[in-house]
Amino acid sequence: MTDIPRPRTATSRKSSALSGRGRVPGDKSISHRAFMLGGLASGETRVTGLLEGEDVLRTGEAMKAMGAGIERQGAAWIIQGTGNGCLLEPEGPLDFGNAGTGVRLTIGLVGTYDMTTRFTGDASLSRRPMGRVLDPLRQMGTQVVEAQEGDRLPITLHGPKHAAPIAYRVPMPSAQVKSAVLLAGLNTPGVTTVVEPVMTRDHTEKMLLGFGAALEVETDAEGVRHIRLEGQGVLKGQEIAVPGDPSSAAFPLVAALIVPGSDVVIENVLMNPTRTGLILTLQEMGADIEPINRRASGGEEVADLRVRSSHLKGVAVPAERAPFMIDEYPVLAVAASFAEGETLMQGLEELRVKESDRLAAVAAGLKANGVDCTEGEATLAVRGRPEGKGLGGGTVETHLDHRIAMSFLVMGLATEEPVTIDDQAMIATSFPEFVELMRGLGAEIEAAEEKA
Ligand code: S3P
Repeated sequence: MTDIPRPRTATSRKSSALSGRGRVPGDKSISHRAFMLGGLASGETRVTGLLEGEDVLRTGEAMKAMGAGIERQGAAWIIQGTGNGCLLEPEGPLDFGNAGTGVRLTIGLVGTYDMTTRFTGDASLSRRPMGRVLDPLRQMGTQVVEAQEGDRLPITLHGPKHAAPIAYRVPMPSAQVKSAVLLAGLNTPGVTTVVEPVMTRDHTEKMLLGFGAALEVETDAEGVRHIRLEGQGVLKGQEIAVPGDPSSAAFPLVAALIVPGSDVVIENVLMNPTRTGLILTLQEMGADIEPINRRASGGEEVADLRVRSSHLKGVAVPAERAPFMIDEYPVLAVAASFAEGETLMQGLEELRVKESDRLAAVAAGLKANGVDCTEGEATLAVRGRPEGKGLGGGTVETHLDHRIAMSFLVMGLATEEPVTIDDQAMIATSFPEFVELMRGLGAEIEAAEEKA
């Protein structure tokens, strides 16, 4: 009989001032794309700073199953790509675990290949909608051989002999959908066009250009982006230095803001403007966050962030900012729990289809810990208590969602009573070093160890 792993709880408690320096792991979005484009390009790609979280490693395994050579040599990952258009049919299903980005981008990447590919994932991923990437692929000629109700995993695809290039207007603000269509366009004759009415993170465009793809971006008078990719070109292996993930930096950053007396530096954080919505919002709330030593690294801007605990005030966060901080709302809600007055977050519909229904999960976690909040269809209003008085003491259901788990462990560092999460296991998907890094800064987090 196999042992079903028991959920491992974790508890955080009121901590004294956090201090010191820390470095968060590599950016998840860039790391996935480094494995994919490196695995596809001709020749060698060398990646340093890669996020070695479970999600990204699944993407690496998938690329290996389709013919790429991937191995770790010291601090670098060395990838021998197959050459554009030359991926091989995998022998078994590609299991993406918890990784939405991994599976959606890979569905795009292989969807235009004349071969059969099966995709599977864990319970959380199997609940998430895949129709958003299957729809454009169907237009390109891909056959969806198998899919569960509502276009959910497990899914089996078979691509056409020759894919049709399309012009696709992305119906929701989603970098994953944009990227899936562009990656599908790599193995398609002619020009594939993505029309993006609302800009989302632009790592796919930037990295495709870096690998030598024939891609151009034009922004029209209405601010709509038109991204054109000439398919079947040559991609050449690259050197990639992955900067620190701003979505991971968000956790020590908010912790330092809400734990009185804290003064912390988080090093080497990606400052791409499509990713810095949280920093802007917190600064509007009165947060003392100072980007120091701004510099260029691997085609992106990075900085060290000095963060000192601050008296926060509630603000209204405009809906237009959502794409630039989409993964940061859970931890923003935590910061808002300690702010004076109300913080209103708007335009949150996409939060409902993340690793969990994040809007519901955050509202439930806040309420379990005594925070006054109101969940709307696509909004969340949080009314904070500056010293965290009377807050905490609850157990939070994480629903297989790493960002819910980390956000509420951050919360417990400043509430009067401790905060417990029901399962810490998913933290390893994006930030395996989280507990260790936070403890290094002085955070009191008790985490049940995994049984050997
Ligand atoms: C990502 C895009 C976003 C984000 C996810 C990473 C990416 O998803 O939430 O964590 O790397 O393209 P959506 O495209 O669904 O908004």
